[in-house]
This record gives sequence, structure tokens and C-alpha cells, in this order.
Amino acid sequence: MSSDLIRAESKGNMQDFEKACKDFTWAQVEKEFDWSNGGVYNVAHEIIDRHAVSWRKNKIALYWIGPANEESKFTFGEMKNLTNRFANALTDVGAKKGDRVFIYMDRLPELYISTVGAMKLGAVSSPLFSALGPEAVKDRVLDAGAKFLITQPYLYKRIEPVADDLGELSHIIMVRNGPDDGVLPEKGTDYHAMMNAASDRFETVNMAPADPYVVHYTSGSTGKPKGVILGHKAMIQEYVTTKWVLDLREEDTYWCTADPGWVTGTSYGIVGPWLLGTSMVTFAGRFDPRTWYSIIERHGVTVWYTAPTALRMLMKAGNEVVKEYDFSKLRHICSVGEPLNAPVIHWGKEVFGKRIHDTWWQTETGAQMICNYPSMDIKPGSMGKPFPGVVAGIVDEDGKELPPMTQGMLAIRPGWPSMMVSIWRNAPKFREYFRVPGWFVSGDNAFMDKDGYYWFIGRADDVIKTSGERIGPFEVESALVEHPAVAEAGVIGKPDEVRGEIIKAFVILRDGFTPSEKLKVEISDFVKAKLSAFANPREIEFVDKLPKTRSGKIMRRVLKARELGLEVGDLNTMEE
Ligand code: PRX
Repeated sequence: MSSDLIRAESKGNMQDFEKACKDFTWAQVEKEFDWSNGGVYNVAHEIIDRHAVSWRKNKIALYWIGPANEESKFTFGEMKNLTNRFANALTDVGAKKGDRVFIYMDRLPELYISTVGAMKLGAVSSPLFSALGPEAVKDRVLDAGAKFLITQPYLYKRIEPVADDLGELSHIIMVRNGPDDGVLPEKGTDYHAMMNAASDRFETVNMAPADPYVVHYTSGSTGKPKGVILGHKAMIQEYVTTKWVLDLREEDTYWCTADPGWVTGTSYGIVGPWLLGTSMVTFAGRFDPRTWYSIIERHGVTVWYTAPTALRMLMKAGNEVVKEYDFSKLRHICSVGEPLNAPVIHWGKEVFGKRIHDTWWQTETGAQMICNYPSMDIKPGSMGKPFPGVVAGIVDEDGKELPPMTQGMLAIRPGWPSMMVSIWRNAPKFREYFRVPGWFVSGDNAFMDKDGYYWFIGRADDVIKTSGERIGPFEVESALVEHPAVAEAGVIGKPDEVRGEIIKAFVILRDGFTPSEKLKVEISDFVKAKLSAFANPREIEFVDKLPKTRSGKIMRRVLKARELGLEVGDLNTMEE
């Protein structure tokens, strides 16, 4: 914990944090929605339809930048027509309220159109990151019992090996934009043909506040990823945090670098900014410092929401590169997903002349919870303070609040609007989050200082955060043991300067296989092809034995302690 303080630069939309906390009610925020005045209750109505019948009809909702820097743009009026068409097209092939709709796609305009279009008819949208591999897609489609998948030909090709194994999936809607996009698969329909045949008039369906609008699959330390369901009422918190934390305003151009396959990319890469009717930029290409900087310059990005790993990679690219670009329009920077180290904040101040505001939240919380606000002094390295209306605490296993400067479990009093409404078809998992009386337990350890600032310590479980992506060790271990050479595997997160953590695997080989560098690469590539381009171990160590409990569970904390040269702690439960 450092003692330096970076003073507030401006007041921002919230003006006075202390006062906002005192006066705040969620009911007051609700009054700003159409549904408070008899309008339809649906997040899609509030983010698109409402603006399309206002002066914002011709305002740009989305500036799309393709991988080769090609560009297109869509107004709120156009987005309304396109999402209406998609809602009709999906209805025509039998989709109904409550159906799960997967959108497995690069960050194309069609991703935004289909995600919002599905919400209009009351379906549950689930964007899937296009780096996912066939097993990861299969697990999600089967768990959700999804009937509809919208994808691109090259991604369909990737999952073709599991195509006969996708349960109830009955419709594959193909976005065929290229000349080499080939023939449709058996259950396939052409996206553009459907869109052309559909009407651009649609009555957005009225939903109940707790009805789901999105499901994001996310990892825990045991089992496969779970479907975290967010309800339409999450919009209440997405709206007011976008206003007070991201500090968005009417005239802003906003860029959220997260993919809609993750919660940041939906809550703040679709819903939040469009609730405020703000123009946003999306980039479908790969990370590269010069490309990123040129997007900020060319589009005059004023508010930028990104992640610590990206910032650390930019920092590594050097200050000279920064000087080549004009950041004079950039007004506000925020970060999420992993600890934002103090040196990155100091670097940001030096090169952009701006503070970087850390925000803490999770897929399960649906929206920002503990943050740094424009009007508040920043203690570099701290996550900030709970948002007005959010009650956080550092608690022990009995739910007792611990005094300042004491490490404990970071917990939240249930009742904030964007809290997940359920875990899809897994009530026991959902209940686990509320096992401590009166609290939602986040799974993170933290402490609060005497001024009420929260400081992140680490995960309380084995969940790994690599380049901001959340990965369950069990999922990686399960993929590893499917490789013919692997008998057993244990996986941990190993601290890394740029990526936060990298995945390290300890592997016992089957008889007849000899350790080699080539085999390490082969095993790592195998996991990549199966799960995703970010879930493969960057380090593999061949071992003869893995530490296990007497009941046979791999003791990852022992692997980690040994790797880091730390005390291994209580080994009472370890088998001899
Ligand atoms: O461990 C915390 C870390 O990311 C976890 C949530 O991951 P996910 O559900 O993928 O959501 C990420 C984006 C909302 C948390 O339990 N985390 C998130 N933000 C921070 C963080 N760790 C430290 N500082 C943060 N600001």
C-alpha cells in the first residue's frame, strides 16, 4: 500500500461522492427510464428504440472499425431497424421469449445487431468470444440447452468436429460476408437472406425486472464454467455507473476495449453507453499499440475503458510511441479486470496527463461496485470505494465485519439491481455465493483502509486471471488429461509482470512418453485448439507426483506455494 495520493482533476457528472452516497436511492435512478412512465420494460428498448424516436435518431450509435481499419457506422435509427429485422427473423425460425441465443462471432456489426435483436423478443443473449475452441462452445451450448447459434463460416468450421454433439441446437445462422464463405451446413440459414426477408417493424417484448437478458459463462475453481444470468433490471445500475464512473456525456465518443463475450463487453460495451445515447467505437482487430493509439486519435475518443494487461503492454511499448499521437480529446480513462498497479497509474498520468480510474466488479455483480470517481482522490493501487447504494464489507466466515486494515473476504450486501438473478440450472452453485449470512461473497480477499478505500489482495479460490481473462484450473486440467501423453495434471496461476498471471501446468506423463520441449509445445497447442486461444498453459513442468488430499483432490495451493518458494501451510489433509 503506497501513501501517495493523486488529487481529483475535475468534479465529473457525480460532482460530490460523499453527498451522492448520502442522498442516493435506486428508486430515484429508476425514474429516468421510459418504463417508469408506462413504457415497455426491456433493456433493448432503453438502449436503442427510445433514442430512435428522439432527436438521437440520426446520431451515430456505433462506429465500427474492422481488422484492416475499414470502417462503417450506424445511427440509432438504423440500429433500431436492423435489430427489429433480426428479432423478426429469429421469431420466424421459432425463437421465443426465454430461449438462449448464442452469438459466436468476431466483433462485427452483426454481433451487436443480433445480441440486441434477440433481447427484443425476450430471448437470453450470450455472446461467445471468438477465441473459444470447440469444447468450450459445446459445453456452453449444451449447458444452456440453446437452440440458436449465430456465427461466421470460419468459426463454424472450427466447431464442426462437435457439430453432431450440440444437443438441442436446431438453427445455425451464418453471417456470410465474404466471397469464399461456402455452403451452408445442414441446420444452417443465411443471416443476410433472413434479414432481407424480415420486416423492420417489431414490438419489443415487455419483460419483468428479473427476467434474464444475458448469460455469461464464467469459471470457478471446480467444474466447468457456469452460466451467470443477469436480469433486465441490471440496466438501472449499468445506467447510473456509466454516468458517474465512466463519466459519459452526450457529446462523448466512447471506446470499451472488452469483447462482448465477457461481461465488461456487454454491460459497458453495449448497454451502459447506449442507455445514455452515447456514440461508441468498436474495433474488431488485434491488439497493437500503434493501432490502438491511432483509433483514439482518429476517432477523438474522449472516454476509454480498458484493462490492466493492455495498459501494461502499452507501457512496455514505450513513451516515444505515445508522443506520435494526439490524445488531446481524451478526457477520462477507466480500467477493470485485474489489479491496476500503482506504476501503471503513474505512467498514465505522465503520458496522457490523465488519471486511470480503477473499477472492481465481476460477472456475478453485473455492474461496477467499487470504483474510483472523477471527484475523488485516487490512492494508486486501491480499487476505490463502494458505489453509492452499494454496501460492501470485509467479513469473516460468520459474516462479521472486520475492522479496517484487516484482511478478509470481500462481500456485498445483496440487493443491488445488477446482481446476477441465478446461475443457469445450478441452484446449489448460486446459493454458495450467499453462504455467509447477510452477504454475497465475491471470492476475492481484500482489506479496507482507515479512509474507506478498498485494496485487493487476491482470489480466495484457485481461479486464474490471465490477461484479464478468468480461467478455472479444472477446465484446463480436464483438457490436459485428454492428451494421449498426459496421465495427470495440476494447474495454477503464476504471477507475470505483463499478464498478471500466466497458466502453469504440472504434468505427469503416461508410461512410454518422454519429457521434451517439443511435447510441451504439442500439449499446450492441444489445449489451445480444444478450449481457447487464452486457456493454454504458457509453462509446463513435467513431474513424477502431484500433491493431493487423501480424497484424491489436487492441492493447487501447495503447487503454487512451492512454485513461488513460499510456506506451503497446513498439510494435514495431504496424502503421504
Ligand atoms: O478477482 C477479481 C478480478 O476479476 C474477478 C472477476 O472477473 P470477471 O467475472 O471476469 O469480471 C471481470 C470484469 C468485470 C474478480 O473477482 N478483478 C476484477 N476487477 C478487479 C479485479 N481484481 C483487482 N482489481 C480490480 N479492479
